[in-house]
Amino acid sequence: MYNLMKFLHLAAAIVWLGGITFMLFALRPAAAEQLAPPQRLPLIAQILQRFFTGVWGTILVLLLTGLPMLLGVGMKKAPAGWHLMLGIGLVMFALFGHLYFGPFRRLKQAVSGSDWLEGSRRVGQIASLSLVNLALGALAIAAVIFLV
Ligand code: HEM
Repeated sequence: MYNLMKFLHLAAAIVWLGGITFMLFALRPAAAEQLAPPQRLPLIAQILQRFFTGVWGTILVLLLTGLPMLLGVGMKKAPAGWHLMLGIGLVMFALFGHLYFGPFRRLKQAVSGSDWLEGSRRVGQIASLSLVNLALGALAIAAVIFLV
C-alpha cells in the first residue's frame, strides 16, 4: 500500500512539474515566435485551462498520498526533509491557487474582451509564478532525498 501511494505521489509530481517545464521552455517560446497575440493568447488560455484542471487533480493526489505517508510514520519520527516537503508543498498549492484565481482568471477575461496587451501581461505573470513553483517543487524533492 505504501509503495502504491509513493508511486501515485511521484506520478502526480512528474505530471505537474513536467507540464510546467513543457509549457515554459517549449510551448511558450514557440507560440511567441509563430503566432501573433490574437491567435496566440486564446490558444494559450485554452491550453492552460486543460492543464490547470489536471493540476488540481495532481494537488489532490499529492495531498491524499503525501499526508498518509507522513502521518503513518508520525510527525515526530519523520525526517526533516519530509517536514520541509509538507511546508514547501503547501506554499506551492497556495501559489497555484493564487495564479488560478488571479492572473489566469484575468487572462480569460482579457481574451474574451480581445485585450491582447493585458492578456500578454497576465501570461507573463502566470509564467513567473509557475517558474517559482517549478523551483519550489525541485527544492521539495531535493529535501526529501537529501535530508533523511
Ligand atoms: C504538501 C503535501 C506533501 C506531503 C505531505 C508530502 C509527503 C511526502 C513524503 C512523506 C514522502 C516520502 C516518501 C518516502 O520517502 O518513503 C514524499 C516523497 C516525494 N514527494 Fe512529496 N509530499 C507533499 C508534496 C509534494 C510536492 C508538491 C511534490 C512535487 C511537486 C512532491 C514530490 C515528491 C517526490 C518526487 C517524492 C519521492 C522522493 C523519493 O523518491 O524518495 N511532494 N512526499
